[in-house]
Amino acid sequence: MKELTFSIVKPDAVAAGNTGNILQMILDAGLKIKAMKMIHMTKKQAEGFYAVHKERPFFGELVEFMTSGPCVVSVLEGDDAIRQYRDLMGPTNSSEAPKGTIRGEYGTDIQNNACHGSDGPDTAKTEVAYFFNRLEMVG
Ligand code: TYD
Repeated sequence: MKELTFSIVKPDAVAAGNTGNILQMILDAGLKIKAMKMIHMTKKQAEGFYAVHKERPFFGELVEFMTSGPCVVSVLEGDDAIRQYRDLMGPTNSSEAPKGTIRGEYGTDIQNNACHGSDGPDTAKTEVAYFFNRLEMVG
């Protein structure tokens, strides 16, 4: 079943020059890019995006990290895209991520983990709408 998911190439990966390699891994996995742009998140945007974590001890640092530089947000489409992209990213903690996953190749630790992908159909819908409108879904 064709499905959409939301992706971020996070500021650590963009700053390290790994955007192209990560997008290539996404394309090689058979996912299609429906929409994409580079943004520099405001504090408000990052706080809203990660609102579910606002009571967690790492929230402040996470927001600081996500606003530390530009990132590349995109909408991906594919069969079972949410699950497929989560598998391609690897586990949250990059130091536990196997080689061949995005976090295993380009992440550093649990915070600087190179990428974000929606964790379910409801979050995918909310996250896509948080950064893109329908006119931007051109792919
Ligand atoms: P989470 O939704 O648990 O992971 P994922 O990105 O794999 O869906 O956490 C969101 C982000 O919060 C995670 O990518 C990095 C950050 N984070 C920390 O900085 N420290 C932590 O201990 C955890 C659990 C997450």
